[in-house]
Amino acid sequence: MTKTLASRRAFLKSSTLAAAATALRDGSLMAHAATQADAYIEIVPNEPIGTIAPEIYSHFIEHLGGVIYDGVWVGEGSRIPNVNGIRKDFIDTMRAVQAPALRWPGGCFADSYDWHDGIGPRDKRPARTAFWGQQDTNEYGLHEFVHTCRAIGCKPYLAADLRSLPARDFYQEIEYCNAPAGPIASNSAARAVPNTLAAQRAANGDSEPFNVEYWGVGNESWGCGGNLTPEEYAAIFRRYTAWTPSYSKDTPLRFVAVGPNGDDVGWTRRLFESLHSNPERPRLWGLSVHYYTSGSATKFAAGDALQFSDGEFYDLLARGSFMERVVTDHWSAMGDANHRVKLVVDEWGAWYGKGTELAPQYNLSQQSTMRDALLTGITLDIFQRHADKVAMANVAQTINCIHSLMLAQEDKFTVTPTFHVFRMYLPHRGAQSVRTEFTAPSIKNPLAIEQSPVGGNSAVGSIKPNATLAGLSGSASIASSGNGKQLTLTVVNPHIDRPFSTEIAVLGGGITSAKGTVLASHDVHDHNDFAHPEAVKPATATVGSPSGGRLIHTFPAASVTTLELALA
Ligand code: AHR
Repeated sequence: MTKTLASRRAFLKSSTLAAAATALRDGSLMAHAATQADAYIEIVPNEPIGTIAPEIYSHFIEHLGGVIYDGVWVGEGSRIPNVNGIRKDFIDTMRAVQAPALRWPGGCFADSYDWHDGIGPRDKRPARTAFWGQQDTNEYGLHEFVHTCRAIGCKPYLAADLRSLPARDFYQEIEYCNAPAGPIASNSAARAVPNTLAAQRAANGDSEPFNVEYWGVGNESWGCGGNLTPEEYAAIFRRYTAWTPSYSKDTPLRFVAVGPNGDDVGWTRRLFESLHSNPERPRLWGLSVHYYTSGSATKFAAGDALQFSDGEFYDLLARGSFMERVVTDHWSAMGDANHRVKLVVDEWGAWYGKGTELAPQYNLSQQSTMRDALLTGITLDIFQRHADKVAMANVAQTINCIHSLMLAQEDKFTVTPTFHVFRMYLPHRGAQSVRTEFTAPSIKNPLAIEQSPVGGNSAVGSIKPNATLAGLSGSASIASSGNGKQLTLTVVNPHIDRPFSTEIAVLGGGITSAKGTVLASHDVHDHNDFAHPEAVKPATATVGSPSGGRLIHTFPAASVTTLELALA
């Protein structure tokens, strides 16, 4: 980065829009014709951040309300179109967003779930009282989950029960999932024989192993997962993972340790100090982070999904933007010089209070508006800007829940605006994230007066809210295509009623052509429902021709845009 560029950025950041525009017109690095632009985006391809892991667009489903039963699982005999009992619309939609990984069975449900209950003949499975005050039929279990993943074409991510099952059940669950069929070399003087758990799996319908790589070692162990201290959890993590069976180099075991509630860096620091006190941390691959954005500035999991003021709109997006701090704070708090362990943000989303659920038995289901689409864009852009740190992220939860891509009730189905944003961000996956500077007037958060509640179901603590919201935010990535470099730029304009004419420049390169997709609506309260499944949907963006290697583009008010730019 040149000194001039750095100082100009610093200047622009502290400038008002008018001053910034003047500076740009006079500045040497942006020595281009004066434009009428209201805002500026500068992409710096020679400042790569990291490869964007496709897994940051991953998913999460839990035995909760109408997520599994009705949402995902309708049963083989159902009149609702299904593939071996799995709702066909669910599969098709997950394929449409090329879902990379799917987390199950919880959430809080995981730490009282016995995986043995969900295998074997369905009509013989026990019904259990489970977390969330539910009776679970166990009709949907391990095999059904893996069949769901296979139908989608995604990797399974299992959250293991740490609170109520012993370590032996953890490694035997791995054995049941991953031991190959047929005789296994004994690696001893004993003869090769079939593995008993693999044979049981075959008897239950799947001779081929499930090859599960991602294993969550517990869930929210500071809360519903056991009310543990970081030191207690570290000791248990070490015991559960000290020895586990592995069978193939193609199926590396990647363990995810329970991380903080929101921005509780104290948990992360103490956890890593404790883990570091014993250097053996086999297969610790990720640190789970949960950060939910409450629909209320003052109360967790409150506020209305559909009725909100302009102030509440900006406040939610400002508090959602806090995800950036969550990512950078925990990255530092891990104190891991080599940073072999990455962040796995395996629960995120906007969480509202009751009022818009599909029906009372669909616990935690809620509607999703354009506001949630904007939060989705802001959040995915944060993960993309921190591609060197975030290895996976799982939206909570994919269907009939907190920040869903789909709503389904019996034979009724719709996608939400959030689904469209996931689709629009597809070109980023696997590309190289590059530094991008946005200059636009920021928005004052009118509700930034209180400490905001943080975290998940077992929320504790509070954080200082973001006082301002970025006027434009986004990220850019570069992928090599057959005939040159292809740049993807995603941008969120959160201003409710202000479009931004924006000058886009690529440092050291020229834009030769551009096309795009935009998600915008007349009203930020707009949403899809069963009667109006296409009320909110993306459109082709009106994109002009670049001039002198730069592009002037207008980002509509309250919109998410993907631009695909071809570079010289
Ligand atoms: O996603 C709902 C709940 O939120 C999860 O079960 C839990 O992990 C979190 O507190």
